[in-house]
Amino acid sequence: MSDLKHKILALVKDDLAAIETALEENLNPHLDLVSQIARHILFSGGKRLRPLLMVLSARICDYNGNYDKTFSTIFEYLHAATLLHDDLVDQATLRRGNPVAHSIWGNATAVLVGDFLLARSLSIAAETELPDVIRIVAEITENMSQGEIHQLMKKGSLDLTEKEYMEVIRQKTAVLFQGTCRVSALISGAPKEKETALSDYGFNLGIAFQMVDDLLDYTSNSDILGKEVGADLKEGKLTLPVIYSLKAANTKDRIQMEKIIKNKDFSVNDFKTLIALMKKYGGQKYTEKLAREYVGNAKDALAVFKNSKTKEILLMIADYTLTRNL
Ligand code: IPE
Ligand code: IPE
Ligand code: MG
Ligand code: MG
Repeated sequence: MSDLKHKILALVKDDLAAIETALEENLNPHLDLVSQIARHILFSGGKRLRPLLMVLSARICDYNGNYDKTFSTIFEYLHAATLLHDDLVDQATLRRGNPVAHSIWGNATAVLVGDFLLARSLSIAAETELPDVIRIVAEITENMSQGEIHQLMKKGSLDLTEKEYMEVIRQKTAVLFQGTCRVSALISGAPKEKETALSDYGFNLGIAFQMVDDLLDYTSNSDILGKEVGADLKEGKLTLPVIYSLKAANTKDRIQMEKIIKNKDFSVNDFKTLIALMKKYGGQKYTEKLAREYVGNAKDALAVFKNSKTKEILLMIADYTLTRNL
């Protein structure tokens, strides 16, 4: 584990424990099967980044109620719901080192339990009795499904532009991070300036987070990542490192890359060749650079807050996004 991750974990240990309890207490499944599958996706080693961001964002806004941990479950349930659906759509095999839910219980069950988790998320959002919060959570849901649909429509398409990629990751990932942080300001009754700052922090962090996820899909290994490496390529999902390299490549190299991308049964060597070509054209470097810029923007957004331990942690989480390996 990186030093930074270690440091963050030590600082948020109690918060993470309280989030864990809240996730247990608020699940409310009425059927054993729902409980079993929901638990499979919910209690299998997720980083809890979204609920943690919510709790820390509330703290930096001086939230003084008792429901920050409860409300933080909105974002983890929503995240878990989208993962159940995403793994099915992406035909993933592994999540957090375990076989994906649909491979154990079947597609129909995974979809329905995903719906249940989504509904739990919305019900808890309603418990805030704040129309703005309910609206934001509903909008996140809308955005995430549209982002996933957009991505699905573009599956296998070699002409996906960087602009379109940015729009997909905004909808499927950044909007959730953004909403998580923004809702905290709303439940805290924070001034608009702080709400905007946290919204910007979350948005920029979310974009960087997905860019790094897309990099890890090429650079990590499955044992560490807990997901299948090369999965994006296998399903014909073009992400920024590839999009950039395809555009920068000379004709000969581009043709070779396209051939590998189009071949669903690419070999280990093909994968290595593609990675080498991406290196040659700077696809990884470019993605890293952009992710770093977004992390910089996320950190800058926190300038309106005075220095505090909580602010330190939020800044560290932003840096961690760049160095994470799972
Ligand atoms: C995975 O999110 C989905 C993406 C938006 C890339 P995380 O990497 O936060 O997943 P867990 O919950 O920690 O496993
Ligand atoms: C993020 O995209 C998925 C969602 C936001 C639901 P990915 O498809 O890259 O996420 P992983 O890699 O499966 O976790
Ligand atoms: Mg996926
Ligand atoms: Mg991924």
